[in-house]
Amino acid sequence: MSATAREVVLGVGAGIAAYKSCDLLRRLQDRGYAITVVPTPSSLNFVGAATWQALSGRPVATAVWENTHEVSHISISERADFFLIAPATADLIARIAAGRADDLLTNLVLASDAPIMIVPAMHPQMWNDPATVANVATLRSRGYTVMEPEVGRLTGSDTGQGRFPDTSAIIDRFDAITGNIRDLVGKRILISGGGTREAIDPVRFIGNRSSGKQSMAIARAAALRGADVHLVAANIDTSTLSGVTVRHVESAADMGAGLAEEFASCDVLIMCAAVADVKPVHSVVEKIKKSLFTSIELEANPDLLAELGARKTGQVMIGFAAETSNLAESARSKLVAKGLDIIYVNDVSNGAIFGKDTTSGIIITRTGADIALKEVSKDALANLLLDHAIRQLG
Ligand code: CTP
Repeated sequence: MSATAREVVLGVGAGIAAYKSCDLLRRLQDRGYAITVVPTPSSLNFVGAATWQALSGRPVATAVWENTHEVSHISISERADFFLIAPATADLIARIAAGRADDLLTNLVLASDAPIMIVPAMHPQMWNDPATVANVATLRSRGYTVMEPEVGRLTGSDTGQGRFPDTSAIIDRFDAITGNIRDLVGKRILISGGGTREAIDPVRFIGNRSSGKQSMAIARAAALRGADVHLVAANIDTSTLSGVTVRHVESAADMGAGLAEEFASCDVLIMCAAVADVKPVHSVVEKIKKSLFTSIELEANPDLLAELGARKTGQVMIGFAAETSNLAESARSKLVAKGLDIIYVNDVSNGAIFGKDTTSGIIITRTGADIALKEVSKDALANLLLDHAIRQLG
């Protein structure tokens, strides 16, 4: 990644909308991005290499073996912080989904692990074809952002979903991925994170494996997007966070008190913490001698999220769940039972996820289709959840 995190590969597919990407390129440059344009060979039928070269001020190539002294595919992909592929045709989407590397652009995509955003533009029949639908689902499940094309009049006389979105809409979405957007200014986001500890005595506790990484990723992303962020952190080191108000708590009771104080004034609650379901009935101040430590009497903790859900006055509420089987089904019933707008269910089979930087699971909303994610970064999930929250806030 470059020092400024602003190096972008603008991939251009063979759609008539390629000419609109000339304006997109200019406006991205105005926002401080440094752009290398990589057109597919057939896209040159719409906009030629000389135009891209002049607009970007950088050499342009379409094939791996072309211009190798100036354009090395490895150096371009190593330097790229982000990819924006606009417009993307059905064929280009299919080639990327299949892992093909038959031109410079698809080589770069394969050789890079930078976040990739795709802006499709095609005839509605191609967009709705089951092959394209499956390819788009594949890319989304791999963590790519694929924008929905707009509905409207196409190049010919027909209408439908397939139009290249407005340049401003593309830039807003891209800025959100790169962290260059401030679409949460004026919004207060309350996040809980980490795992609560329920004291047995001064040295022992009942706890869980939550690392707090996901809540930190959400707090960081929301702060970057301009929100007033409050994190109720159960047993996490938050020293790397900046621009976030942190309240450190230990037990479920502490967390409940912290959230209760902040809830009324928040716009969005993201309940990421692993709250211990039970606590010892008696927590003693003296250490229990091991000879006497034979059993612990337990009682249930209140369900903090359900309690807050019952008090909600328009807040968007996002919950988390951890499951090892029947992910979608179990999570959907929690969504309804706890009065949530969105739930993200982690697949925790085989102890996966805890402490890792990636996550696999399903985003479930009340109205939209489920979104399955496989091994995406916790930062990417954070931004996806914030996108959903903004949509819910209207
Ligand atoms: N939660 C809570 N208070 C609790 C337990 C959970 O607020 N006492 C919240 C969590 O922060 C999370 C969601 O509820 O957002 C998880 O719901 P839960 O039903 O506890 O899910 P699981 O932990 O997956 O529950 P179960 O073990 O019953 O499957």
